Amino acid sequence: MSLIKVAKTGEIPPGTMKHVEINDKELCIANVGGTFYAIGDRCGHENASLARGKLEGTLVVCPMHSSKFDVKTGKKVSGPVLELAGIAKKFSGCPEHVRTEMSAMFEGIAEAQSSIKTYDVPAYEVKIDGNDILVNV
Ligand code: FES
Repeated sequence: MSLIKVAKTGEIPPGTMKHVEINDKELCIANVGGTFYAIGDRCGHENASLARGKLEGTLVVCPMHSSKFDVKTGKKVSGPVLELAGIAKKFSGCPEHVRTEMSAMFEGIAEAQSSIKTYDVPAYEVKIDGNDILVNV
């Protein structure tokens, strides 16, 4: 492993994240109040890009099913949320047979996803050199 420049500090304002690709690795670089962190940019559930999610303090919320990961450690803090009630509301104006079929389809998806494990993501050492963000990859 070696320190490699991945971005300029000005490219990632506080409270935001950026996806970068270095040495065949996809990284999510996060700026938490002026401190930068780097974790793998593939969710430990179903590989969504975490950089496209939300940053809540030091937690990254996955854009697909809302698993949360600590940007300091890469550890999973909470698993996916599969909200069938919210999906059902989206079809509330549809005919009964459509609601029934869609409900059955999403219940099947939720059942299939319930057995998928969610893993921690790797965390990488970050150093700042002037305006450069360096990551040990
Ligand atoms: S892909 Fe991230 S929680 Fe499902």
